[in-house]
This record gives sequence, structure tokens and C-alpha cells, in this order.
Amino acid sequence: MTGTFNDGAAYERLMGRWSRKIGHLLLDWLDVAPGLDWLDVGCGNGAFTEEVIARCKPHAITGIDPSDGQLAFARSRAEGASATYIVGNAMKLPFADASFDVSVMPLVIAFVPDPLAGVREMKRTTRKGGIVAAYMWDFTVSSRPGAVITDTLKKMGVPPDYPPRIDAARQDKMREIWTEAGLVDVETRELRIMTEFPSFEDFWSSNTLPVGPLGMFVSKLDDEKRNELKREVRAALPGSADGPVAIPAWANAVKGRVV
Ligand SMILES: C[S@@+](CC[C@H](N)C(=O)[O-])C[C@H]1O[C@@H](n2cnc3c(N)ncnc32)[C@H](O)[C@@H]1O
Repeated sequence: MTGTFNDGAAYERLMGRWSRKIGHLLLDWLDVAPGLDWLDVGCGNGAFTEEVIARCKPHAITGIDPSDGQLAFARSRAEGASATYIVGNAMKLPFADASFDVSVMPLVIAFVPDPLAGVREMKRTTRKGGIVAAYMWDFTVSSRPGAVITDTLKKMGVPPDYPPRIDAARQDKMREIWTEAGLVDVETRELRIMTEFPSFEDFWSSNTLPVGPLGMFVSKLDDEKRNELKREVRAALPGSADGPVAIPAWANAVKGRVV
């Protein structure tokens, strides 16, 4: 599943723009001081990392992700030069204890096979008083920008692959994991944005790029099935066939403090 994210430019069209938009809401909620040391776990192509640099003025930020393709794009960003990007896995972070002030896992936790191990690693590498946070689309409801495609595939009898740990994207499960990892003052909340596409074609082409589990799944359908899917998705979306498309999307967020 980690191998489904291998093209940072495609990821930017699929998700980077929404990661930044919803990431604003997370950063407002965290409300931390400038000049801190940040860790961005599963930083991908650096979309959220760039927002942290622009809005939170960190002293330093390190991004870690298993995908070389994502990290290559992250390094090419205008703001990317001031970050350090490392290939690695959330479940075994290559950092000493108490190295960071804020550790975040944006749109990642459902992809980590053992989410508790990942959160324990974030806690270990975060200093006392620091924050460990995450947010993720709630897969148990149709909350993702491309959820209408998943729902239509299910109706067509060809359910797509899901990330391995969608349970960890629920608020109750997040609270349980954060508490079990030993974090205190644990809070959860919903973050809501509007995803807006200039046309149905932009919605369709960006959400079916061969990156991520859903795009990979759609790219492997034969032409007939893919065309049928496109017709059904177009019919399922409100508004005129060729006008702009606006879809509400929401994620669950969690934060806790290290003691
Ligand atoms: C949906 S993307 C999120 C990227 C970025 N955080 C963002 O907000 O745009 C999920 C990312 O998680 C990474 N990933 C998957 N499994 C991981 C793991 N075990 N440890 C760390 N990152 C992982 C993928 O390579 C991918 O870049």
C-alpha cells in the first residue's frame, strides 16, 4: 500500500491542494509558537510541510516518508530547501528520543499498518510538553474528495482497495490510540473544507490519476468499466454536467501532549 504513492506531481493534483487547505485548519487548531522543531511523518510530496514552513515559521522541520518519488517532489518545492527530507517508516523513526517539539501525521495514519506503533514513535521523539497530532479523512463515511468514485464502484459491484487501517481514522479510535500511547490532554475534532473543481473533467482526471489506492484501482479497470464508472460518477454529482464541481470534505483530527 505504501507503494501506491510514487509520483509527487500527480499527488499534488490529486491531494496536495486539499492537504494544504485542510492543513490550515489543523495548524490553526494546534496554535503553536514560531521557532519550534517539527517532524512531519508521512510528509509525502511536502504539501503540508510547506504550509508549516509558511505559517508556523519553524526553527527546523524534518519530513519522513517511504516514497522516494514523493520526497523528490518535496525537495523541488520553493519552500522545500529549508526542510530536511528522509526516507523512512513511521513505525521505526530514525531519530533520538526528544528530538522535536511538534510531531504531525497528516493524511497518513490509515496507511500505517500499526498506527499505535507509529504514534508511540512520535511520542518517543517529541520533547516533554510537545504536541503529537494527526488528521485523516474519515473512511467510514463518504468524506473524502473522491468518495463519490468509491461509492459508485461499490454500487457497480467492484469495490476498490482501502488503506489497511481505516479504523484509525475514526475520532474514537484516534482518542484510544493517543491515550494508549501515553499522551495527555487528548482532544479530537472534525475539520471541514469545500473541495472545488473548475469542471467535471478536472474532478475526474485529478481523482483518477494512478496514485494512491483509489487512482491505482481505477487505472487498472478496462476501458469499458472505466467509461461506465465515469458516466455513473458524473450522474451522481449534483449540478450541471460540465459546470464547476464543489464537494464538501471532512477529516478527523487528534492532538495530545507529551509528559
Ligand atoms: C495521502 S499521503 C499524505 C502525504 C502528506 N502528509 C500530505 O498531507 O499531503 C500518505 C503518505 O503516507 C506515506 N506512508 C504510507 N505508509 C507509511 C508509513 N508506514 N510510514 C510513513 N509514511 C507512510 C505515503 O508514502 C504517502 O506519501
